[in-house]
Parts: sequence; structure tokens; C-alpha cells
Amino acid sequence: MKRFFSKVIDFFKRLFSGNTKSLPEIDPNQEPLLKTSRNEIEGRLEVIEGEFPKDMLGACQISLPVGTVNSGGLPFPAKNHKGHRNPEYGSPIMNGDGMVIQVNLAPETPTVKTKLMKTPCYYADEATKEGTKHHGLMGFHNMGITRMSMVLGSRNELNTATQPVKFKGQKVGSLMATYDVGRPYLVDPKTLELVSPVGKVKEWMTAEPPMVPWPFGIVQTSAHPGFDPITQELFTVNYSKNKKAYTHLEQSYHHLKHNRADFKEKLEGLANEVVDHPDDEHVKAKVDNFFDKLNHHVDGKPHDKDEPKGDVFMNLIRWDGTGSFVHWELSDQTGDKLAIYECMHQMGLTKDYLILTDCSFKFSLDMLFDNPFPESKIIERLIRRLATVRMEPFTTTYIIRRRDLKPEGGKAIAYRLDHPIPLETIHYSCDYDNPDGVVTLYGVHNAATCIAEWVRTFDRRALDGKPVDPDYYSLFAVGSMDISRFGKWKFDAENLKLLKDESKVFEEPGKYKEDHLGPNTWAVALYTYRGILSAEKPVNKIKQIWFVSDGTVKNLLTKFVYELYEDYPHRKLSLHEIKDATERELPFGLTRVNTDTMEPEDYYQCDRNTFLRGVQFVERKTRNENVPEEMDGYLFCPVQVGNSVDSKPTKYSSEFWVFDATDVAKGPICKLKNDEVKFAFTLHTSWIPNAEPSDQQYIIKTKEDYDEAIKDLDLGVDRGFLEKFFEENVYPHFEHNR
Ligand SMILES: [Fe+2]
Repeated sequence: MKRFFSKVIDFFKRLFSGNTKSLPEIDPNQEPLLKTSRNEIEGRLEVIEGEFPKDMLGACQISLPVGTVNSGGLPFPAKNHKGHRNPEYGSPIMNGDGMVIQVNLAPETPTVKTKLMKTPCYYADEATKEGTKHHGLMGFHNMGITRMSMVLGSRNELNTATQPVKFKGQKVGSLMATYDVGRPYLVDPKTLELVSPVGKVKEWMTAEPPMVPWPFGIVQTSAHPGFDPITQELFTVNYSKNKKAYTHLEQSYHHLKHNRADFKEKLEGLANEVVDHPDDEHVKAKVDNFFDKLNHHVDGKPHDKDEPKGDVFMNLIRWDGTGSFVHWELSDQTGDKLAIYECMHQMGLTKDYLILTDCSFKFSLDMLFDNPFPESKIIERLIRRLATVRMEPFTTTYIIRRRDLKPEGGKAIAYRLDHPIPLETIHYSCDYDNPDGVVTLYGVHNAATCIAEWVRTFDRRALDGKPVDPDYYSLFAVGSMDISRFGKWKFDAENLKLLKDESKVFEEPGKYKEDHLGPNTWAVALYTYRGILSAEKPVNKIKQIWFVSDGTVKNLLTKFVYELYEDYPHRKLSLHEIKDATERELPFGLTRVNTDTMEPEDYYQCDRNTFLRGVQFVERKTRNENVPEEMDGYLFCPVQVGNSVDSKPTKYSSEFWVFDATDVAKGPICKLKNDEVKFAFTLHTSWIPNAEPSDQQYIIKTKEDYDEAIKDLDLGVDRGFLEKFFEENVYPHFEHNR
């Protein structure tokens, strides 16, 4: 242990003495594109344009990552508090503490509240942040898309989405904050404070090797689980990924923990030698050889190859809001364990079935090490070159028959559909009704776009080969390599057949050579419809869907992403057309599609440098019977507005816009703002009819939960030290639920 600590200290000494010469100059008059505040505030919203519709019901939530305990919001600063190069600089914005912004629309004057999602590991991070006595030994570090401490484990950042839930007997229910790699938490709809985790630490299986004794284990789950408002049950998953890269995982952990400095030095040496070698196979062979013989290459305590290996597991979880989970171990109809190659970001739920998919969002275990040495750009380049694989251009789909799920848990079959959905999919929703066993799924197909790739500090632009503008570092590298698709898919869930003839895809580049594009599917990720995520009642048939299209951005189409998807198999537009459209920097838009025809019926186009960051359907206090139910309401959007339509705004305003759902083409009917709320990139939104205090009764006590978890950690843990650390730094923040 002593040897390990001294190595870690050595490493930090070297890290902090790093030079800052190569950092780009930042124009002080220019507000960064990603400028985001992590201050918790509460206040009123001012109407800055239009009239506030007084018949809006309930409250909207917006989830967003807001940087780390060290960063003071976003962007990640280039230098740390001591003026040295900041190892967090350029890490993906996805890797940051979660904040929820809630806008209460019901009062005469709408109000806004922002809260950080302060999990126990948040407080551990706070207690070990830069400048604290624990930082060197226990501090958390951004390692690519995850934030880890070699002693404490992996951060649960809860930054992705909120899902309303209302269990049996509850009048209000709770919000549930989610993350792909962390257990969800119930959140109080009134105060936005965490109420209770979903399930105890010990109920979740973790994906780190068994020899890693971490109180904060890696929980892989779904950021978009399923809640059934009729049966009032929550369904989610808990899995580990099946990936060949897994074979190197145990020994990489070992050397990272025990021999970090030497591991880094040797890997850096190798990276310098091969990173620019033109032959991929040669690079791969050299790196495979290095990792196969890590014990030989890295000095220090060798890794014991016989140590127990982690199992691959895939469990379905059901929770009714009280007591423990029920879980089922899933296999497919041939008896094989479900093999997840990408991730289960999204789940689907209908009256009789649950839908599982291998989603195209590689936020999963192999990504944990996409940057184990964040301070080394050469290693980052090498690992990205090897580890970034193209997403599979299809979506493997599994169906679970809910009637097969034995109430006591056990095993269950997830039937694989005869054909995968023939496009990659990130988000989707299903009609609750499934007449004659036919499921209808509406999906966003992020064709040739990977949400898990982010713009690196060494990236170059595909169009002109110039370095990417530093303003775009950390953002998702979602420069389009083809237009997105919006699909309606039907499948026979009893006979496991994808009904291709009854499925339909909307794909539309719009008139991208003209000023007004019209409805289009450039870079689509987020959508809404009336009743989306409702914990009150299901949407039997989704009739109208609104989605945001993000246009094209020169700085987000990196050379790396371009080369990765040059040969995209479902290509709709030629590479020439893609380059042309990217050169034009197409604006954001909002499109409504009628799901019967899968044709667009309404469209609003943003000005340049106006970014619709989300869209959420909001119901009226009283139903207007003159309008079809699915159109009766408003659309609420977080919007980032640049102060200039020219290429470089110097300031951005964080606003909330309201559209009349029956007519988005006429533009926002109201714009709201509070100067203290500052956001840039936001993730998912949700809506609840009333933001009253949670009436959740079953609450897991933080101290009991972690005392039990720490007690059961094995293999050389200094339990006394961990217990004291938790007693001093974590539990005092949970006095209300000890
Ligand atoms: Fe998502």
C-alpha cells in the first residue's frame, strides 16, 4: 500500500509540474460557447419577449452536466488553481456532475430552481478535490468519459435525464435522476434534493474486476428505463458488457493502481513509436503485444493472472418503490447470455412487452479507459486510434414477454427479433398499446454519428484540416456524416418478426442550399410528444412527434469522425454533399411529424447561432376540446442564443422558449430568462403536472447502505480508513436520512 501511495505521489508531482506552453490563447472578450454555471439558484423568470401563457400546467426539468468539483462549471479551464496545465482540460462535457434545472410554469410568474445531484460519491469527490489533503491519494480524475478514483471507485454523475415515477398509493411520486453508469436516485419534485437511491449498493452488480475493492462500484444500467403508469412498476437493467477488450481490463487496473508511473512511461514510449504509423494492423499488433505482456513491460508488483475474473451478467430489474428489487437473469431464446456490444442507453415498454436494444452510444465499460492518463495527449491519441470502433449500423432488438416474468424473479428469456432494426438507434419510444402482439416503436437513428465521441484538443477539422476551434473542445463530435433518420418500426412480438413492410422511415436533408431548409433530419437526437415519460397515464398511441435538428457545424465534423464514417453503409447523401452542407453551417430547427403518414407537418427554423438544446411537451391546465389531444399544449425548450448571427458571437444568453404546439412555424410565443441561470449544452427534459414534495416512504439510509457495502469489501482494504473518511466527509451531508 505504501509503495502504491508513493508512486501516486510521484505521479502527481510530475503531473503538476507539466508545462502550459501549448495551451491556446483565449480571447478575454469572447464568452466561451460552453459557458455553464454550477451555482444552485432559485428565482423568478422574466418574460423577455411575447406573453407568458397562464394556462400552462406543472413543471419542466432539464438535466445537464456542469463540470467537476474542480472546474467551477464549464468549460473545463485550461489551467488548474495553481496555474498549471489542468488534466481535466478537454475532457468530454458528458463527464461532469449532474444538475437539474426546474422551471415551474404553474404560478402567475414562472420560477426557476437549479440543483446539483449530490450523491454520496459527489461528497467524496468534493472532499478529495484539488487542493485538499486527500487529493493525491484518493482524488477522482476524468479518464475520458468516466471519472474515477483508484481508491474510491467510479463517480455516479446523474447528469443525463429525469424520469417521473409514481408508485402504488402515492399521490405525487418522485423524479428519478439517471445516468448510464450509476444507480438512479429518486429526487424530490419540490426541492430537487435526493430522496433515496433506487436499490441498495449491494443489490446492484458492478462491472469492475472483483479484486478492485471500491465503495463506489461501476453500475451499468439504462439512462432511459421504463416506467409503467398502469402497473406502477419500474423496469431497468443491470449488466456488464461483453467485449474482447475486457480481457485486458484486470491487468490494466492492476498496473494503473500499483505501477501507474511506469505504466504511463512505457505506454507513452510505445505511443510515440506507433501513433502515426500508417498501418492499422501494425499498430494494433504492437499494442496487443504490449498489453498481453504488461507484467513484462511494466516494472513493479506483477499482476496475478489467476485472480478471479468478473462475470458477464445481464439482469432485468423490477422495482415497485418499496423494499428490494426483483430480478431476472436474461438469456436469449437459444439459451445464450445476452451479449451487449454497445450499450443499453434506452429501454422500451408496452402493455405486454419490454424492449431491450443494443443502443448505438458506446457509453460502456471499454470507454472507461479511453483516457486512463488524461495528462498524456499522445496516449489519448493512441487509445482513440485503436479503441474507437464504428458503431454497428443496425440495432439488435430483444423482446421480453411481461407475462413470462415470474413474480419471484429467477430467469427470463429476452427473445431476439429475427432481423435487427436496420439502422443504428439512440432514443426511441413505443406505443403502450400492442394490438395482436404488434409493437410500434418510434426511433431516432443517429446515422453515422457517435454520441460517445467528443472533440479532442488535438482534433482537426475535416473540411480544411485546420485545428478545431478550442471553443468546441469537449463537445460531442456529432458533425453529421449523413442525415439522421426518424423511423417507425413495427414488429410482431409473438412471432419475433420485424414487419419491414409496415415500417417507415422519414429522412430529409431539406433544401439545404437555400436559406430556409424546411423540415429536415440533420443531427437529430431529442424529441417529444404529449405524455412522453408520463407516470400518470400511458400513451396508447403516439400520434404527433416534435424533434430538434441540430444542423451542421464545421468544428464538430472532425477529420477523425469523417474517416471513421467515410464508408457508412446506409449512406443517403454523398460525401461531397455532406461537405457542402457542413461548409454552409446549417441552422437548428424544430419539426413535427405525423406518425400516421411519417410526413412532416410543421417546422420552425432558428436563426444562426441560436441553439435549441431540448424540447418538452407541456399540458394545459384545462383541456381545449377544439384541438386534438396530442396537439393540445405547449412546447418548452431550453435555448442558447448567441448575440450575433455572424460566425462568432461574443456572448450567449440562456433562455427558455415556449411554442404553441399547434403552430411552431410562427415561432416562440414567449421567451423567459433569469440572468443567474447559465447553460450551454443540455441533455434530456421531462415534465410533471405538479412539483409537490415527494411522498416516497421506502428510503434507503445512506449510512446503513455504505456501512454495509464497506464491511463486505475484501482484499486488502483499510476498512478503518474508509469508514472514517465516510464518517467525516459523506454521512454528515445525509443527516436527514441516517
Ligand atoms: Fe439519452
